[in-house]
Amino acid sequence: MGYKIGILTSTNRDVRVGADIANWLQKQVEGLDDELTYELLDIADLPFLNEPKLPSEGDYELDSTKKWSDKVASCDGFIAVLGEYNHHMPAPFKNAIDTLYAEWSRKPIAFVGYGAYGAESSIMDARSLLSHINMMPVSTKLTISRIWEALDDNREPKPDYVYGDTKKFMAELSWWTKTLAAARSTS
Ligand SMILES: Cc1cc2nc3c(=O)[nH]c(=O)nc-3n(C[C@H](O)[C@H](O)[C@H](O)COP(=O)(O)O)c2cc1C
Repeated sequence: MGYKIGILTSTNRDVRVGADIANWLQKQVEGLDDELTYELLDIADLPFLNEPKLPSEGDYELDSTKKWSDKVASCDGFIAVLGEYNHHMPAPFKNAIDTLYAEWSRKPIAFVGYGAYGAESSIMDARSLLSHINMMPVSTKLTISRIWEALDDNREPKPDYVYGDTKKFMAELSWWTKTLAAARSTS
């Protein structure tokens, strides 16, 4: 059986490094688990929430929301490539989460944090939000520090700036993805 992991960006500045980290991450994890496939879910062009009904009703008017709903619903788990703005999650990331509801529910999400100190505060902030909408924030994480000097000429993080074990990180996310997919299918 195959499972899909959505790789979420979290920022939308024209000069953002978030998209570079997400592209690098996808290359690192591809092939580590034969049962997992990946899709980059870039939140950069998602408009700010402006639906008349509550997201928890799942009845959307805007095409942009419907497309976002289909993409998120098709995933069994997520990796958030999470930046940090003023020690919290960047607003475009929160908007991407707030725009939907049931599509996220009972699915795991793991973090790749980047910033001055690996976006630790932002990850803590995001965990609280994501628990509220019934997601499973996975503890094992990857962090990239001193982001302003971390990228090489190919816009990929140099190994000395990356903390964490990618194989363990993916093994944990994979376990939660498969376990929760099985549980969702029986309830
Ligand atoms: C509004 C703003 C606030 C920031 N606050 C933090 C912060 O609290 N902690 C941190 O580690 N970096 C902070 N930074 C620096 C970012 O980590 C760095 O600029 C990074 O490249 C931002 O991600 P992006 O390029 O994907 O937008 C901040 C950057 C911006 C634009």
